[in-house]
Amino acid sequence: MSGDYQLVPLANGAQTLFSARYGEKMHPGLGPAAEAELLYVQQLQISERLETHAGEFVIWDVGLGAAANALAVLHATREISGQCRLISFDDTGEPLEFALKNGGALGYLSGYQQQISELLRQNRVEFENGKLKVKWEFLLGDFPAFLSNLKLTTDNLKPPAPHAIFYDAFSPARNPAMWTLPVFENLFRALDPARPCALTTYSRSTLLRTTLLLAGFFVGVGQATGMKEETTVAANDLRLLVEPLNARWLERARRSDSAEPLCEPVYARAPLSPATAEKLRRHPQFEVSS
Ligand SMILES: C[S@@+](CC[C@H](N)C(=O)[O-])C[C@H]1O[C@@H](n2cnc3c(N)ncnc32)[C@H](O)[C@@H]1O
Repeated sequence: MSGDYQLVPLANGAQTLFSARYGEKMHPGLGPAAEAELLYVQQLQISERLETHAGEFVIWDVGLGAAANALAVLHATREISGQCRLISFDDTGEPLEFALKNGGALGYLSGYQQQISELLRQNRVEFENGKLKVKWEFLLGDFPAFLSNLKLTTDNLKPPAPHAIFYDAFSPARNPAMWTLPVFENLFRALDPARPCALTTYSRSTLLRTTLLLAGFFVGVGQATGMKEETTVAANDLRLLVEPLNARWLERARRSDSAEPLCEPVYARAPLSPATAEKLRRHPQFEVSS
């Protein structure tokens, strides 16, 4: 939708983008720069993993938006010798175009305007970010459709499987299509089982966590940010989680009035069905932790 975005101030003085279409702000807690750095880059230990990584380190940046998460990676990794492939997904370039025009007020785009312009023009840009070699691609389109089409795509046309995923869509209530169980099942299938991958997102909701568990991920508690006292980290390798959800969480999920995953893109609150509760009970994470 053209004219969807506007700048709004947060309580701490930072400016962020508000989408009229979704009725939500991006990074509403601490603002784009601080929240992106804490929740996405630090939480997934991107710098530490890049430092010890041989070859290309692949990040899927789901919900490119105004690129605060992508740019937080670039700001944090200039001194690391290595290669980073940043693959950003969104169904519109409008928030990034808007952010580029309002770079002065937002601040965090500083030093990367040229690369962003090229990304918007060509859907890809390659450059040296200090010592780090970067390939940044923008896959424009519907992310759930991209995932469901992956199984029909030949291997040489598929983007490489990720080592890290930033999952930053608008909320399940406002954008349920991005939070269904089929989407996360397809996302899990897109991972390479031999490539440890961790995903982070701002939500700590029981519904999201049961969805990730059912899709095949191990799921853990993520650190606090601004308005949230907890966030969520998920991985295909339990060793990437600092604090895996335990049997007490499972007990609370059984009592929750909003825990059943969304099977279709319609937001609904429902307690766990007996079949879902049984699948969760058998998840390897709880066999390990209980
Ligand atoms: C919360 S914003 C992302 C903020 C961004 N990560 C940043 O750092 O500035 C969510 C983004 O998801 C995108 N989005 C919504 N539905 C989508 C879909 N079906 N497929 C791909 N992207 C979608 C929106 O256009 C929006 O830019």
